[in-house]
Amino acid sequence: MDALNQIIDSYDPEAPLAEASTIPSPWYTDERVFELERQTVFSDSWQFAARIDQLTKAGDYVATEIGGEPILIVRGSDDKLRAFFNVCRHHAAAVMTEPAGHANHLRCPYHGWTYSLEGELKGTPDFNDVCNFDRAGNGLVPMEVTVWEQWVFVRVGGGQNDPAVVENELGKQIESLNFGVLHWFERRVYQLKCNWKVFVDNYLDGGYHVPHLHKGLDSVLDYSNYTIENGERYCLQSSPMVSTSHDDEIGAVRSGQRALYYWQYPNFMMNYYEGTLDTNLVRPLAIDRTEVIFDFYFRDVSASARERNLASVIVGDRIQQEDLDICESVQRGLNSRAYRAGRLSVRREAGEHLFHRLLHADLSRYASLGRA
Ligand code: FES
Ligand SMILES: [Fe+2]
Repeated sequence: MDALNQIIDSYDPEAPLAEASTIPSPWYTDERVFELERQTVFSDSWQFAARIDQLTKAGDYVATEIGGEPILIVRGSDDKLRAFFNVCRHHAAAVMTEPAGHANHLRCPYHGWTYSLEGELKGTPDFNDVCNFDRAGNGLVPMEVTVWEQWVFVRVGGGQNDPAVVENELGKQIESLNFGVLHWFERRVYQLKCNWKVFVDNYLDGGYHVPHLHKGLDSVLDYSNYTIENGERYCLQSSPMVSTSHDDEIGAVRSGQRALYYWQYPNFMMNYYEGTLDTNLVRPLAIDRTEVIFDFYFRDVSASARERNLASVIVGDRIQQEDLDICESVQRGLNSRAYRAGRLSVRREAGEHLFHRLLHADLSRYASLGRA
């Protein structure tokens, strides 16, 4: 078996797109790469943790996991949002066990230790005779948190390499789309038997797979005019919409507008066309298992718009199923002795090239620091 450093170094980040290959297959199949990503890619970058609509009142909380770390986001009595490791200071149980909810204080289910909404340790049953116990130093361990658009992001490792949530350039573009008028409608969660990067690669192939894999979608996208723009840590893929039938109500509404597909390194996507947004959060569960969380937003989420919104979600669901199947097929192929790496389309796959180079930068930095 190759050493981890050799596996990382077998990718050439200097090759221009026309000469570049994909990252090699062990990056998708070797447990050591998964562990290194956990300590680097997912620890040092701002990671989507919650929607702001889940945290509107004091005491609202969301419990999740990022890169294997249990995370808790809570709105305090002072209305401030805080993020903590969801790890009890007593014997390490998760303090909050529901994925989201409302609480007056944070009480660990194991031995009943209780923390305030601000994370301070308040209650420790049967602890009277314990000496030299620094109660003030045993609050929940905090982590960095920030709000961008409708979302809460946290940074587990407090790294220096992703100083802003997003590049200003991306922030400005997103701001002009005015996501603030959109309301969350529904969440759908998919489990895939593939490495998380297979899903991201599929997303970033510049529409290459659309006419082959998504016959339905192909009829509303003007595939030949698809554009791909790379930022420093994001990629915008964009396609003009065409309407096959102008009698069709939705087709007529979408006609002549562009669909915008924003990917923010490493694992967050925003898919927008006028009045409709869905976000995708790609969560690695194991080297060959991934969860993708889709959140759907619409301008009008009233009861009268429900049918129409649901129809839109269901169209997305069918496309998603086609993507899931192909991602699982790719993962099986990546495990084959017959495959090591592949070449990239210059016309279509600049986004994947950026993704692979950013990954290489993160992984090689740590591999060379001996943290691997
Ligand atoms: S682990 Fe939380 S109270 Fe013991
Ligand atoms: Fe697709």
